[in-house]
Amino acid sequence: MGTVLPVGVLVSGRGSNLQAIIEAVEEGNIPAEIRVVISNNPDARALERAERYGIPAEVVSDKEFLSKVEYDKRLVDILKDKGVELVALAGFMRILTRDFISTFPQRIINIHPSLLPAFPGLNVQKKAIEYGVKFSGCTVHFVDEGIDTGPIIIQAAVPVHDDDTEETLSERILREEHRIYPQAIQLIAEERLEVVGRRVNYLGR
Ligand code: GRF
Repeated sequence: MGTVLPVGVLVSGRGSNLQAIIEAVEEGNIPAEIRVVISNNPDARALERAERYGIPAEVVSDKEFLSKVEYDKRLVDILKDKGVELVALAGFMRILTRDFISTFPQRIINIHPSLLPAFPGLNVQKKAIEYGVKFSGCTVHFVDEGIDTGPIIIQAAVPVHDDDTEETLSERILREEHRIYPQAIQLIAEERLEVVGRRVNYLGR
């Protein structure tokens, strides 16, 4: 047995990606341990999912009206206190400050429901349909100071059908999100990634 990577997951809502990560860890597929789940939204379903598995869950509410810097400092304090070495954003609806990002260099990852660099930002499944692309998908990437711009770890593509709605396309993409997000965490936990500039290379096997 090698080492176990301590992970913190930041959420805001439904938490289906959190669920996929929890299940993959529980199944023993990933040498990682979720030390804490933090939500900015006290009503996030993700919090219930964490509690169901006995994972410490904390709320740092937006309603506390902290400055962005103070807010992120609060997050960093909790994550450090829990010994977190990898931060996974899973539907976390806040932009992180430079201070936060520099505290975890190349140790923050995000899942985004498009094939980046196409369609960064919000409501991207709708944007993909309106644009008329024939394929979309999802991307796990390292977080840098831009919006959805960091080095790409894994992507999965899905077709866009003529009769797709935002809902049907989102569902098809989400199934792939649940597959590749745990895979990305596994690659990091097994130290099988090498970042060279913008490129992320897979090592070994
Ligand atoms: C996912 O579509 C993810 O790609 C995006 O936010 C959504 C979160 O969904 N960043 P969930 O909370 O994981 O169910």
